[in-house]
Amino acid sequence: MTRRIEHSCVTTEIDDEGIAWVTFNRPEKRNAMSPQLHYDMEAVMMEIETDESVRVTVLTGAGDSWSAGMDLREYFRETDNDPTAQFRSFTANKHWSWEILSMSRKPTVAMVNGYCFGGAFIPLCACDIAITAEDAVFGLSEINWGILPGGIVSKVIQDFLAQRDAIFYAMTGRTFDGTKAVEMKLANIAVPRERLEEETRALARELMEKNPVVLGYTKQAVKAVRTMDVEMAYEYLRAKSLALRFADTEDTRGRGMEEFLDNKTYRPGFEPVGKKS
Ligand code: ACO
Repeated sequence: MTRRIEHSCVTTEIDDEGIAWVTFNRPEKRNAMSPQLHYDMEAVMMEIETDESVRVTVLTGAGDSWSAGMDLREYFRETDNDPTAQFRSFTANKHWSWEILSMSRKPTVAMVNGYCFGGAFIPLCACDIAITAEDAVFGLSEINWGILPGGIVSKVIQDFLAQRDAIFYAMTGRTFDGTKAVEMKLANIAVPRERLEEETRALARELMEKNPVVLGYTKQAVKAVRTMDVEMAYEYLRAKSLALRFADTEDTRGRGMEEFLDNKTYRPGFEPVGKKS
């Protein structure tokens, strides 16, 4: 049975397959991220992260927006002269949209259903996988109204885009669509808007066929080595691999070898080893 969690700016539905559909829910403000939305997301992400029934997290937006970025009124102007309020909302933002989301133990999917501007690039890039409507509109609009891509936006666009694209789009503020976002490797898959949910569900099901512990360790390892040198990456991956053997109580590795080498019942090159009976 689907479980629904309501916050004032975020709605979460955890369906019986284990997919948590997290929806930024301020469609009248194009899901701009207000301080309250950050507090809600912080609570939601902690809840999802510690709920064993959740296997995949999908982030999307209500209406025709994924998110129009930071709320210019509530996140910026209203707290311009209030360092305490700024600290609270900035820290909540950093906590959920980068620290928790980018290193979540569960697979995370950005399902971009429309506008995605400015600060929304942070959760977009923190998600493991991005699937977008072909006609979604992306933009680094900061330049248009007198700020630079802050938070960690300048950093994530340098990390995710080619330098030429990062600088070009930050300087011009030109928008681009979902098809272009895939071409630029900012998103993985672009589909017609009417197929967005169905394709996301298919992707989530594919991820749920893998062993969840192995999947969590894999994504964390691939992300963590990015800033390591080769020697450190070797050491880290060896230690992480040993830790995985301990953490994976289903011994997926051992069963995989047995089924391939001894029983000859499956081919690991093409399919995940079956669940432990
Ligand atoms: N912050 C605060 N309010 C916003 C934001 C935002 N980022 N985006 C939209 N809204 C509000 C509008 O003020 C308006 O509120 P109102 O009804 O009380 O007047 C409502 O959402 C609807 O906005 P419209 O502009 O009327 O909607 P439209 O569909 O025509 O355009 C669009 C949508 C293109 C997203 C437009 O609202 C826009 O350009 N928003 C700003 C996008 C942006 O630059 N984001 C980056 C912010 S900076 C950062 O993230 C670091």
